[in-house]
Amino acid sequence: MVDADTRRQELERRAAEWAGCERCALAGSRTQVVVGSGEPDADLMFVGEAPGFHEDKQGIPFVGQAGRLLETLLEEIGLSREQVYIANVLKCRPPGNRDPLPAEIESCQGYLYDQIQLIRPRVICTLGNFATKLLSGSPLGITRVRGRAQEHTFGAVTVQLFPIYHPAAALYTPAMLDMLRSDFAALPALLAGGGAAAEAAPQPAPMSAAAAPASEPELDDAQLTFQF
Ligand code: URA
Repeated sequence: MVDADTRRQELERRAAEWAGCERCALAGSRTQVVVGSGEPDADLMFVGEAPGFHEDKQGIPFVGQAGRLLETLLEEIGLSREQVYIANVLKCRPPGNRDPLPAEIESCQGYLYDQIQLIRPRVICTLGNFATKLLSGSPLGITRVRGRAQEHTFGAVTVQLFPIYHPAAALYTPAMLDMLRSDFAALPALLAGGGAAAEAAPQPAPMSAAAAPASEPELDDAQLTFQF
């Protein structure tokens, strides 16, 4: 087992290396690569979609409005952003904050998997569809899988993957904010190791695509498209 200091240094070394990435065309439009921020030995890691305007300028993920909401939700469960690690599926801003393209995700995903190996979180919260689909390896959208932990192993690291709505989607939709808040409330129990998120807060029953009730239609990806 590599100790935390060694992993911390290695993460810094790689971040410096990744800053010059030219694996995809986003290298031509970005201001800078936004690798991630926070505690490199964190138990809790968040994975969002991609840097937006402010993140691209400042080089730090989640510094805009969605980031402020993320910080508020963290504070409500007694955590600060300095205690967690925050990263994105894409490390560079797509022009106009458009959705990540499959080829961009393909080019960039290795960085995220390296981050997971070095940080070794116990819980990964995927924020929204792109992070959830990538790390769950399933095409099921966030509306179907949110709020229920799934165990996944990435290389040497086994985590509780906990998909939740993207904070940007909750900014203007009170019902979504309520669900996000209730999912955050489940995090302390999950971090405590119970794998008991489902007991910590009222959760929807597991639902297959075919079994989704008509009264609760799945929002498709387009309905969860937002600007941040
Ligand atoms: N800011 C980020 O860094 N990532 C997102 O997914 C949204 C806003």
